[in-house]
Amino acid sequence: MSLLRFLGTYFKPYLGRVGLALVAALAYAICSVLMLVVFQMVLSDVVQTDRSIQDLVGTGKSEETSEADDGDSGLPFDLDSFDLHGRLLAGYESLKQSFGVDEQSVVYFVPLLMILVVAFRSVTRFINGYLFQVIGLGATNDLRNHLYERLLHQSSSFYQKHHSGELLSRIGNDISVLQNAVSTRFVDLFQQLPTFVGIVWLLLSLNWQLSVIVFLIVPIIALPIVQFGKGMRKTSHKSQERLADLSNLVAEAVRGQRVVKAFGMEDFELERFKQANLRHLRVKLKAQLLAYASGPVIETLAVIGAGGFLVFAGRAVRSGELTASVLVTFLVAVLNLYDPIRKLNKVNLVLQEALAAAHRVREVVEAPNDVEDRDGARTLPQIREELRFHGVSFAYEQKDVLRNIDLVIPRGEVVAFVGFTGAGKSTLVNLLPRFFDPTGGRVEIDGMDLREVTLQSLRAQIGLVTQDTVLFNDTVRNNIAYGSKDPDQEKVEAAARAAYAHEFIAELEDGYDTEIGESGAKLSGGQRQRLAIARALFKDPPILILDEATSHLDSEAESLVQKALTNLMKGRTALVIAHRLSTVQRVDRILVMSDGKIVEQGKHEELLARGGIYKRLHDLQLQGGRDHDA
Ligand SMILES: Nc1ncnc2c1ncn2[C@@H]1O[C@H](COP(=O)(O)OP(=O)(O)OP(=O)(O)O)[C@@H](O)[C@H]1O
Ligand SMILES: [Mg+2]
Repeated sequence: MSLLRFLGTYFKPYLGRVGLALVAALAYAICSVLMLVVFQMVLSDVVQTDRSIQDLVGTGKSEETSEADDGDSGLPFDLDSFDLHGRLLAGYESLKQSFGVDEQSVVYFVPLLMILVVAFRSVTRFINGYLFQVIGLGATNDLRNHLYERLLHQSSSFYQKHHSGELLSRIGNDISVLQNAVSTRFVDLFQQLPTFVGIVWLLLSLNWQLSVIVFLIVPIIALPIVQFGKGMRKTSHKSQERLADLSNLVAEAVRGQRVVKAFGMEDFELERFKQANLRHLRVKLKAQLLAYASGPVIETLAVIGAGGFLVFAGRAVRSGELTASVLVTFLVAVLNLYDPIRKLNKVNLVLQEALAAAHRVREVVEAPNDVEDRDGARTLPQIREELRFHGVSFAYEQKDVLRNIDLVIPRGEVVAFVGFTGAGKSTLVNLLPRFFDPTGGRVEIDGMDLREVTLQSLRAQIGLVTQDTVLFNDTVRNNIAYGSKDPDQEKVEAAARAAYAHEFIAELEDGYDTEIGESGAKLSGGQRQRLAIARALFKDPPILILDEATSHLDSEAESLVQKALTNLMKGRTALVIAHRLSTVQRVDRILVMSDGKIVEQGKHEELLARGGIYKRLHDLQLQGGRDHDA
């Protein structure tokens, strides 16, 4: 129920159009029935089939049959008002009368009527179909926008729980399924359901005995068709699996052929293969059995059904109960049931799928966001004093990663975090832009808990340069001035110069207007990094986070990036994480992390002298460096 309410909110703006579409759908159904009656008139009044056949049969019953039909309306109960066919005929007769149509002009009148009904039906089909496209596409577009908006604001932990592939499929696949269901299948539902009812009603009032026979025969024939279809789908699926088993076996044996030989397992492998092959054969044969049996079975059942029908029909025609025009109209009406049944049958399936898709979409849209602005969150003023971690602990799910960290970083200080991999360095700095919130303690800027301020005002003060530089498929300028609408070229260029990026940008074919390709594919690693630094310089935030910004580069690129970083850090409070100790030797303070705690801190020389973890890291890297050089 709440799922329907969830979907309902997106359809609300389209309610008027839904109403119009429904009216059109109903009109379509009515026209579909009228069409059949007009068809009967073509037979009886224009081509005059009944006359010639009656002449042949010699029963002498003439067109009064229609009136006679009115009398014993053909229904088991005596309610004339339910006699749809009789009423439509009466309407036709009075229409003829009011236009003064006679024996001759009826040849023009009925075709004209036919044209009108069919044309009107086409118009209603168009209105109905197109409106539902407008509704389905419009509503799901709104839903997609909303979903994406929710995604953009979700916290990092949300992104860790949900695969990117999964999210892509929510935005792409699931919404398309929904859209298709609404645009196409709703049309079917609303068009074909009343059409189906109308035609069945018409059949009953044309001749209820024949109708009952048809309603009995059709399922008897349809059931095996459905069953055969199901069986064939299942076996074909199974046979695919068996075939996959086979190729897996072969692939395994070929890859491991030395082992097979060494262990003398050829016979064993052959036996395994034979067994699998036999299983495949059985499934295949079963599929063929079904395929070859379905035709004859269905054909036999169909011909038995048709035979039974003919006996009744023949007797009815002979006794004058049934005219040729009614019989042919009856058969055409039965055939016309095929389309509604087929489409309505699909509706159920698609609606089930759509509901499942809607459920998955709603899960994402309504996923709780653990990092969100609180009610009454304040704007964080520019940092004046300090940044403080106050007894901060953090755990991913159950795993403790940070343990009771106390740390004060006065404004303008550059601190470096070092430590073995997994020590918790990235986790610690990620608390600052509130990618996560601490599970214990608090992070403060000038005494304000970060959870009490707006995300927007917090993140406006923080620049972030990470190891995997994130660039967008856009121009160099827009990448540097990311987020600013009409960037000032001088500011962009100044940032690029300070990031030692201006020279290479100037050499690009279109300078600052060069499109850099997906994720900056047209640039080198060092160039990408310097663009990211230029972006941070352009933003000019008072607080800076650098997470291993240089570890991927060769020494030459690194020295450029290092110079750019030095420019970037000037006058800012900076938290720097680097694996290469050479890059952090000159910072104000080095913090050594181990197992979620800060275990040592000080200047490079002091830490070396202490002979602790820092010394070990240092020695390891010297060694690594020598190995590398060797
Ligand atoms: N999303 C996550 N879910 C669960 N555990 C995580 C997650 N991210 C990191 N961890 C774990 O938290 C610990 C600290 O990770 P973190 O990324 O902070 O380390 P690090 O010091 O930055 O390491 P490195 O130097 O390799 O970047 C590691 O043990 C890691 O396995
Ligand atoms: Mg890290």
